[in-house]
Amino acid sequence: MAKKSILVARAVFPEVLERLGLHFEVESNQADVIWPRDEFIRRLQGKAGVFTTGGERIDAALVAACPDLKICANMAVGYNNFDVPAMTAAGVLATNAPDVLTETTADMGFTLLMATARRVSESEAYLRTGQWSKWCYDMFCGADIHGSTLGILGMGRIGRAVAKRGAHGFGMKVVYHNRSRLTPDLEAEVNAKYVSKQELFKQADHIVLVLPYTAENHHTVGAAEIALMKPTATIVNIGRGGLIDEDALAAALAAGKILGAGLDVFEGEPKVNPALTALKNVVLTPHIGSATVPTRQAMANLAADNLIGYLTQCQAKTPLNSL
Ligand code: GLV
Repeated sequence: MAKKSILVARAVFPEVLERLGLHFEVESNQADVIWPRDEFIRRLQGKAGVFTTGGERIDAALVAACPDLKICANMAVGYNNFDVPAMTAAGVLATNAPDVLTETTADMGFTLLMATARRVSESEAYLRTGQWSKWCYDMFCGADIHGSTLGILGMGRIGRAVAKRGAHGFGMKVVYHNRSRLTPDLEAEVNAKYVSKQELFKQADHIVLVLPYTAENHHTVGAAEIALMKPTATIVNIGRGGLIDEDALAAALAAGKILGAGLDVFEGEPKVNPALTALKNVVLTPHIGSATVPTRQAMANLAADNLIGYLTQCQAKTPLNSL
């Protein structure tokens, strides 16, 4: 039987392309060109599957224009680039890449929390630019992490992994808010207390956002929430940029209303709001939450497993819809 054709939308580990090549005719993009949407749609003609990386929008218009498409496999846990109801209506399977990145992404959340609280980027820039001439008693004093209160907004797998690090590693008191409360067993496992969103912003010394991005939680953190924070508090975003109103955050940081922010994701990335890059009290990283080689390999292989499983045996490991 002739092999089915698939499109790999972005550059990926060569060994993953090789695996895919055992099962499919593969059109790849190792030059990592960001194709304009019309070109992406043109390249999808005749393809049964597509390997996406989170940046490619799959919506009703696209699935209507690609009648051969059966599966879109995202190499990301977040899938806000997918219109899942439109895909279901068109009979297209959607898959994401959960679990394999949980611990690595939680590590990054904690990295940003610590770097923000202890003003690592700002003090390093000071040193690198030759400004350090003497020790001083209050130079770059930051906020303690141990024994402080960690607030987690979004208590899914990654949120719980962040909570464990805080509770068990740093003796933090953990409060959380989530659409649905955890079971008592899970709450006990991560030693976390459920509070309202308002209470979380009032009580926490360090806040970590780990919720998925949907239309409902666009700018779920805005001026009103930031105004509730302690002046010594920090906020970290490892979810999606659109969760925070970046202008409101930048204004609060510029006015010294909160201590700092650590951001790995941005609304409109890879463009970054210039109001943020102008500030010293913010740690900025280019969406690298899951960026370790073993984790990125596991994510790519899981996306490949989904393509291979679904197109050869009608079985995907991590489907987001049922057809
Ligand atoms: C990364 O942001 C992901 O959703 O996997």
